[in-house]
Amino acid sequence: MAKRIGILSGGGDCPGLNAVIRAVGRRSFQRGYDVVGVRDGWRGLVEDELEPLGPREISGILPRGGTILGTTRTNPYKLEGGVDRVMESFERAGLDALVAIGGEDTLGVATRLHEEHGFPVIGVPKTIDNDLNGTDYTFGFDTAVFIATEAIDRLHTTAESHNRVMVVEVMGRHTGWIAVMSGIAGGADVILIPEQPISIDEACDDIRRRHERGKDFSIVVVSEGYELEGVAEAGERDEFGHVRLSQRGVGDALAREIEGRTGFETRVTVLGHVQRGGSPTPRDRVLATRFGLKAADLAHEERFGQMASLQGDRVVEVPLKEATAELKTVPPEWYDVAKAFFG
Ligand code: F6P
Repeated sequence: MAKRIGILSGGGDCPGLNAVIRAVGRRSFQRGYDVVGVRDGWRGLVEDELEPLGPREISGILPRGGTILGTTRTNPYKLEGGVDRVMESFERAGLDALVAIGGEDTLGVATRLHEEHGFPVIGVPKTIDNDLNGTDYTFGFDTAVFIATEAIDRLHTTAESHNRVMVVEVMGRHTGWIAVMSGIAGGADVILIPEQPISIDEACDDIRRRHERGKDFSIVVVSEGYELEGVAEAGERDEFGHVRLSQRGVGDALAREIEGRTGFETRVTVLGHVQRGGSPTPRDRVLATRFGLKAADLAHEERFGQMASLQGDRVVEVPLKEATAELKTVPPEWYDVAKAFFG
């Protein structure tokens, strides 16, 4: 029997979302199924904003950044009657399954809806932060690392010309995946992440050691979630209770500390949302495409409550519950690789 598959993208956008939407659509159309797009993440189901997605809508979107469906950080569990409205819109649209593309928040809602109401949902792991459990990598991460690495390369040449310390603040929320990977790839001299918080004293020692060796410039990569004494938690929170870490100004505060303690002229660059914008790398396009095909297959097979996941080189399924139980942090082995080049 023909099915109707709904699809939504929630949380912060990231490169590769459109590649997933295209893959879910293409495989579902081949089966003679209808595909319906939900606008702006969970908001579209709460407010009943859905639209048909046909071959024309998903054509030409593979290389496009962002998401043709729009996205928000709406949490139906925080809205009066929100969950009931999600179920009602789903029923009204005659949907048989929903593919939810998201990170820990969007997929956390999917997990609860499935656990508590048997909601027929399939997850696809998305986030530039790569902090989702149950998958080796999320799509969007490779593009963010590519952009951050390019920025570090560019900062190297100007740091060297001016004999400066360059602090680069990258995203990643409470994990340091982007900082560690782009720092290794870009040859950073110090990397500060939330999981392995070396002190500012240690960071300054590394920088001084470089200067003693005749290297008059340094690149310091800091993750936005690195805890720095004196830097307060910013007040603003989203519907999932997350603080906007970029508002804390960790990079700025760190640059001031380094300049004050070492006397070396220091500048800061906050990469911000450029890390999320634009076209996905080939690797992210391929991963997003494979995740999309897997999600369409899981929806077809009615394997609800599961998420597409990358394990080694294979795309497999894992329970959503497992994927959203805890954050995937940077393991010490990865930080050791980075540390081998400090100072
Ligand atoms: O989760 C993705 C992410 O880009 C984080 O790295 C960052 O902390 C957050 O989203 C920024 O959120 P917003 O786009 O709402 O400012």
